[in-house]
Amino acid sequence: MKALVFLLLFNWSAGFLLDSLDQQACFGDLGCFSTAPPFRSVERPIDLLPKSPAEQQIKFYLHTRENPSVSSEEQLQVGGGVGSSHYSGSRKTKILVHGFTHNGHRQWLLNLATSLLKKEDLNVIIVDWGHGAGIPYTQATANTRVVGAYIAKLIQELSTVGPSLADFHIIGHSLGAHIAGYAGERLKTLGQITGLDPADPYFQGTDVRVRLDPSDAAFVDVIHTDGSSIVQLGFGVMQQVGHVDFYPNGGANQPGCDSDFFGKLSHTVWTAVTQLDTLAAEGAVACSHERSYVLYTDSVNSQCPYTAYPCTSASEYAAGRCLSCTGTGCSEMGYNAKNYSARGSFYLDTASASPFCEFHYQINITGRNNMDGTINIVLQGTKGRSANIPLMTSSEVHTKGHIISKFVKVPTDIGPLTNIALEYDKTTNILTGWAYPNDWQLVGMSILSAEEQKMYTFCAYGKTLTSHKPIALGLTGTC
Ligand SMILES: *[C@@H]1O[C@H](CO)[C@@H](O)[C@H](O)[C@H]1NC(C)=O
Ligand SMILES: *[C@@H]1O[C@H](CO)[C@@H](O)[C@H](O)[C@H]1NC(C)=O
Repeated sequence: MKALVFLLLFNWSAGFLLDSLDQQACFGDLGCFSTAPPFRSVERPIDLLPKSPAEQQIKFYLHTRENPSVSSEEQLQVGGGVGSSHYSGSRKTKILVHGFTHNGHRQWLLNLATSLLKKEDLNVIIVDWGHGAGIPYTQATANTRVVGAYIAKLIQELSTVGPSLADFHIIGHSLGAHIAGYAGERLKTLGQITGLDPADPYFQGTDVRVRLDPSDAAFVDVIHTDGSSIVQLGFGVMQQVGHVDFYPNGGANQPGCDSDFFGKLSHTVWTAVTQLDTLAAEGAVACSHERSYVLYTDSVNSQCPYTAYPCTSASEYAAGRCLSCTGTGCSEMGYNAKNYSARGSFYLDTASASPFCEFHYQINITGRNNMDGTINIVLQGTKGRSANIPLMTSSEVHTKGHIISKFVKVPTDIGPLTNIALEYDKTTNILTGWAYPNDWQLVGMSILSAEEQKMYTFCAYGKTLTSHKPIALGLTGTC
C-alpha cells in the first residue's frame, strides 16, 4: 500500500513537473519530436528527446542480386538519390531494421537479405542505426522516432524512382518494428510492415501513435516470440499490433530457449528496464526474442508449411481446439503471410532448431470400458512414420464412452496417413489399478491432420488393447 501511494505521488509529481518541462527537438524537414503525451505516459515514465540522424549515424546499406555480399554493399543517402548504385525502380524493395543493441552488420540481417535475394529479385536495404540503438534502453526508445522519420524520407525519395509505396516492405525486429511503424505512419500508403517480436517495454499498451499498429501499412503482420510479461523480462509485446499476429509456441517462450535469462528473474517494471540495460551491456543473448527473425528467415525458402491456426488464446490452442481452417481461415507465418486473407491471432508450433517444421494432429479415442494408464501411438503415412508418441505423460483415468482428445506434433512430413500402431499400458499403481481390467476395448478412433485439413477414421470398433501389446489399426474402408 505504501508503495502504491508512493507510485501515485511520484507519477503525479513527475507528471506535474514534466508538463511544464515538455521539450522538443527539431531536425529540419523531419519535423519536431516532443516529449509531450502520448509519448510520455504511465507506460513510459522516462521520456527522453531523440538524437539527430547525424548523431545516430544512420546508414542505409543496399544489397541486390548484383551486389549481395557485405564487401559489395552500397550506401544510399537521404537526399542523394540512387546515383550509380544497383538500386532498380522496377524491383520491389525490402527494408530491414534491427533493434536494441544491434547494428546493420549483424549476421541475421545479412542472412535474411541473402535468403530474400535468393527467393526474389529485390532491392534489399539494411538500416544501420547502431549508434542510436545502444544502452540506455530509454534513449534508444526515444531515438526510434527519428530513425522511422528518416526511413520515411528515404522511401519517399526512392519511390520517385520506383517502385510505388505499395511495393515497399519494412521488416523490423524489436525496436525496429516500432521504427517501421513510425516510418509507415508518415507514408500514404506503405505496402507492408512485418514486426518481428516488437519490443514491449515502453510500447505495450501505449497510444497507436507511439507503437506499431495496423494503420501504419496496408498489411501489418507480426511474429510474437518473447511475450512473457516485462516483470519476467519478456522483451516482446503480447498484445495484437497487426492485421495478423502470429504466436508460435504460444508466443511467450520458445523451445530450446530454456537457458534464456528472460523469464528466470522476477522484476518490477521499474527495475526491469534497468536490468535489460545491464544484461545488454553484458552481451546476453535473448534467445526467445531473437527466434522471431530466425523463424522469419527460415520461412523465406522453407520446406516447412508454417500453417498457422486462428485461435482466441494460447491455452485454447494448446488444448488442441483450434486446428480447423473452416470459418476464419488459416494463415501462414512468415514470408507468405501476405497471401492469406484471414485476419486476427494465429497459433502454431515449431521445433527448437532447424528444420523448424511441426505437423499438427488432433487424436480422438473412445473406449468401451474404463481405463487407467497411458497410451502411445505411432502414425504411419505414405512418406514415413512418426516416432513412438506418448499421448499422456503419466497415467490418466478415462471413463467408457468419453472422448480422449490429444494434440500431438510430428517434426517430419509423413504424408497422408495409412495406418497407426496403438499401445495401452495399464497403470502399475496397485492401489488403483486393481479396479481396471488388463484389456481396454475401443469404440472409435479418429485423427485430424491439420496441415491437410483432413479427417481420418480408423477401424477401432470392438478392437481390444491388451496392456503392453501394441496393435495396428488401418483406415476405415480397409477393415
Ligand atoms: C503469393 O502471392 C503471389 C502473388 O500475389 C504469388 O506470386 C505467390 O506464388 C504466392 N505464394 C504462395 C506461396 O502462394
Ligand atoms: C474430437 O472430439 C472433439 C469433441 O467432440 C471434436 O470437436 C473434434 O472434432 C474431434 N476431432 C477428431 C479428430 O475426431
